[in-house]
Amino acid sequence: MKLNIAVLAGDGIGPEVTQQAIKALNAVAVECNHQFYFKPADVGAIAIDKTGNPLPEQTLDLCKNTDAILFGSIGHPKYDNDPKAKVRPEQGLLALRKSLGLYANIRPVKAYETLLDQSPLKREIISGTDILMFRELTGGIYFGQKELSPDGNTASDLCVYHRHEIERIAHLAFKAAMNRKKKITLVDKANVLESSRLWRRVIQEIAPEYPEVTLEVLFVDNAAMQLILNPSAIDVLLTENMFGDILSDEASVIGGSIGLLASASVGDQYALFEPIHGSYPQATGKGIANPIASILSAAMLLQHFDLHQEAKMIEEAVEKALELDIVTPDLNPNNTGVTTSMVGDFIHDYILHPEDRHLNSKHVYLGQSTII
Ligand code: IPM
Ligand code: MG
Repeated sequence: MKLNIAVLAGDGIGPEVTQQAIKALNAVAVECNHQFYFKPADVGAIAIDKTGNPLPEQTLDLCKNTDAILFGSIGHPKYDNDPKAKVRPEQGLLALRKSLGLYANIRPVKAYETLLDQSPLKREIISGTDILMFRELTGGIYFGQKELSPDGNTASDLCVYHRHEIERIAHLAFKAAMNRKKKITLVDKANVLESSRLWRRVIQEIAPEYPEVTLEVLFVDNAAMQLILNPSAIDVLLTENMFGDILSDEASVIGGSIGLLASASVGDQYALFEPIHGSYPQATGKGIANPIASILSAAMLLQHFDLHQEAKMIEEAVEKALELDIVTPDLNPNNTGVTTSMVGDFIHDYILHPEDRHLNSKHVYLGQSTII
């Protein structure tokens, strides 16, 4: 298959982790005879520095004219510490999601057997966790009207949802549930918010179209608790934009590191793949960022194009890296010598030579370049 992939590496650790995802995709291309062409473009703080716009026209055009987007991360402390900033890097990502109609953000949360003891949560609580989160991505409080009074003392953000915005993501989530354990947990705050009551009504109307799927509803505060008390009871979690943002960071604790969580943002026309983590500015350029979330996002990209076998090759290589402890210090603080690119190299090499795992791991520890 021939794929043109826009690479929006963004800020902070974005470029270094995305580079590892590209390595993995290149290995898959060689192994399976595909042609993947990578086209870089600026977004976020770096784009503001160059053009004043966090999502330059050229970048948006490129995204509209490629098959998929590989996204790194966005955000810079100089804007975080300046609440008066008129443009912010994050606006680039939000504008991209909105302009491309990427309304469904899909975030898998898994407790890897080999990492059960890395999580601050008890092994017996997280064991068996396999959640697929569907976060609505182009509506709600993120995109509602924002106001600040002239005296600067009153501010508001409007949370608006339209029926069709709920319906389209709901169908994706129900369909996904049909291929899994056939359970959906809708997370809302219907005891307080009108927009949540609309969500609940619409979802309850759609549910009978999928009679095999059990629908459970949880208030978001309770969901935040259940997610770490009994995560393996959740199969597909469906929620609106802001709740999904918060709950997916919380859920990352289950896997042991936010550096493991990948995501796909899809709409009717375009698709973007990105780790859920932020730009982690303190780690930039130090080689300590975990590239696995970005690499697994590349696997989700392959899945999107029905390259399931290829996606599996990446997933298996990641599992092997975890099993052999070829992981960055967020997963094993003793691994101070294992860098972002060593993990990427191992995964690249393992995809090409799965049979040679001993040699690979030995080389990684010696800090030598790996095979090929
Ligand atoms: C995420 C991020 C973004 C969001 C930020 C960077 C705007 O936290 O993708 O979860 O809030 O959606
Ligand atoms: Mg977030």
